Amino acid sequence: MTQIDWKNLPFAYLPTDCNVQCNYKNGAWGDIRVSESEYITIHMASTCLHYGQEVFEGLKAYTGADGKIRLFRWEENSKRMSNSAKGVLMPEVPRELFREAVYQAVLRNKRFIPPYGTGATLYIRPLLIGLGPEVGVKAAREYLFMVFVTPVGPYFKTGFAPVDMMITYKYDRAAPLGTGSYKVGGNYAASLLSLKEAHETGFSTTLFLDAKHKKYIDEAGPANFFGIKNQTYITPDSKSILPSITNMSLMQLAEDMGLKVERRPVPVDELSTFEEVGACGTAAVITPIRKIVDPEHNRIFEYGSDNQPGPISTRLYQHLTAIQTGDSADKHGWISFVE
Ligand code: PLP
Ligand code: COI
Repeated sequence: MTQIDWKNLPFAYLPTDCNVQCNYKNGAWGDIRVSESEYITIHMASTCLHYGQEVFEGLKAYTGADGKIRLFRWEENSKRMSNSAKGVLMPEVPRELFREAVYQAVLRNKRFIPPYGTGATLYIRPLLIGLGPEVGVKAAREYLFMVFVTPVGPYFKTGFAPVDMMITYKYDRAAPLGTGSYKVGGNYAASLLSLKEAHETGFSTTLFLDAKHKKYIDEAGPANFFGIKNQTYITPDSKSILPSITNMSLMQLAEDMGLKVERRPVPVDELSTFEEVGACGTAAVITPIRKIVDPEHNRIFEYGSDNQPGPISTRLYQHLTAIQTGDSADKHGWISFVE
């Protein structure tokens, strides 16, 4: 294996030794198997290809200073995958199967887990797809669950440094009673055009609004949104956003730090009142936001000074990442040791 430059890893795919797979057939899950191939052969009429019957997850493995490999709240990813699966009529992956597949994928690719202190982590991608052959719009009868891993650096190139975002009025990511709260591929396909436009105009990503009123903040393309003011952590309550495990954890940590926590609709107009704003997620961790452009009303909201993350975002970031790597005590029981 060529030497990996852990400190400069992008958030991109890097091949590893193997992945873990399991098929669902005749109403039951089969045995876990390990594959050394990066390719899968599936029927061309598979429902995942035509009708988007596909759900996925994202979590990370961290190396601690003690050399132990930690997972952060994998049970929540398992629960969310079940919820997503039910939302698009797929069988749930049993918790024990999810755990076994994730653990095996990590352990069998141990040499790709970034060392402590590099800032890089092992990204774990569980995937569940509907297999064919079907032509009518209906749920598949067979499914494939697989887990691959890949070592990654920060999702946004800047890492823990502020980025600029653009509110989009032209596109919606998800409808109020649609699939926004499920982690299905279609939501991400729906975000690509706006993401392209955001990139072309110099922004890191798009901030989506609620599709019905175009008045409240929903979330960023790959992450939830939060704002901080008056010692309060405020994050949108919306049926069309992904329930972020990072955000759920930050709400707890904010409370632990003595902040008030509010989960409620956040009007765009309120952006002018925040002291700090940021995006949060497994890939994004905490990404502070420096500037939000509102093209519809010709306004720009700016945060912080000297291009530095705000003090509360910084404390939250340090607190969260210290728990993930084992530098801080795991008071809430969020960590599992892979070995
Ligand atoms: N929102 C969207 C659309 C996402 O894709 C993600 C990433 O998983 C998140 C939010 C953050 O969720 P989590 O913190 O569970 O990774
Ligand atoms: C994650 O944070 O795990 C995600 O799934 C975001 C992603 C779309 C890269």
